[in-house]
Amino acid sequence: MKGIVLAGGAGSRLDPITRVASKQLQPVYDKPMIYYPLATLLEAGIREILLISTPVDLPRFESLLDDGSQWGVDIRYAEQEQPRGIAEALLIAEEFTSGEPVTLILGDNVFYGDFGLERLVTEFSGGAVIFGYPVDDPARYGVVTLDDAGNPLSIEEKPANPASRLAVPGLYVYDGKAAEIARGLRPSARGELEITEVNLEYLRRGELQVVPLGRGIAWLDSGTHDSLLEAANFIATVERRQGLKIACLEEIAFLKGYVDRDRMEQSVAAMPESTYRRYLERMLDSAT
Ligand code: DAU
Repeated sequence: MKGIVLAGGAGSRLDPITRVASKQLQPVYDKPMIYYPLATLLEAGIREILLISTPVDLPRFESLLDDGSQWGVDIRYAEQEQPRGIAEALLIAEEFTSGEPVTLILGDNVFYGDFGLERLVTEFSGGAVIFGYPVDDPARYGVVTLDDAGNPLSIEEKPANPASRLAVPGLYVYDGKAAEIARGLRPSARGELEITEVNLEYLRRGELQVVPLGRGIAWLDSGTHDSLLEAANFIATVERRQGLKIACLEEIAFLKGYVDRDRMEQSVAAMPESTYRRYLERMLDSAT
C-alpha cells in the first residue's frame, strides 16, 4: 500500500498566518501539522509516500522532511500547481501509485487513537474504504448516511441540511481504480475535482465501505483558528498527562523497527538541544 499526503491548498482561511508558510507547516502544539498525518501513515505500515503541495511550499516540506530515510521510509514530492480539488491528487500521483492501492490523507487531518488502520490496510482487498465520524457541525464536511446494517446510502459534500451527523474525515483507502475514476470527473460548482465524487462512484459500483469511528478516537480538524487552537490544546493535554508524545516520527520509526538504534541515535545527535530531543534521548534510554 502506498500513501499520499495532500498538503497544498490556498490556506486563505488562516490568513495572515499562512502568508509565508502553508497551513500544514504551522505548529500543532510541539510539531508541525504535517507530522500528524505522516504519523498516521507510518503507524499503518505505509512507507512509500508521495507528498503533494504547492510549487511555493514544496521546497519547504522537502527541507523539513527530506527523503524520509531518517525514519526508514521513502518520501517523494510532487507539485499541485493550483488547488483544483482533493481528487486531483489521485491524478498527480498516478505514476507513483502505478495501479497499486493507495491511502490518501489530507495534510491538515489529525487522528488520535488506534482505529485499526494498519489491519485495514494489510487486509485491504479492493474497492474503497472511507470513515464516518460523528460531529456536531456536519455541514462543514462530506456527510455520509448509513442504513441499519452500516452500508452507505449517500454521501453529500457540505450539505445545507445534513442527513446524518457522520462526517467523512480526510482519509481514504482506494484500490487501483481511483485515478481512472478521478479522470472521469468534471469540476464542481466550486471549481474543484471533488473527492466526494470519487467516493460516490465507488458507492454506485457497490464497492464502498464505511468504517465508523466512535468514542475513544479523536479526529481533529485544524483548518480554522479555533480548531487549530483546540487541536493544539488536545495534543498538549494528552502529551503532558502521559509524558508520551503523539506523532513523534522518530519514535514511531524506532518502535516500528523502520530504523535501528544506531540510525536513531545518529538522528538524535544531530538535533539541537530541545524538549523534543530530550524526549527521544529518554525514550532510547528506556528502550531495551
Ligand atoms: O477534512 C475533511 C473534509 O475535507 C471532508 O469531509 C470533505 O469531504 C472534503 O471535501 C474536505 O473538505 P474541506 O472543505 O476541508 O477541504 P479543503 O478545501 O479545506 O481542503 C482540505 C485540505 O486539502 C486542505 O488542507 C488543503 C488541501 N487541498 C485542498 C484542495 C481543494 C489541497 O492540497 N489541494 C486542493 O486542491
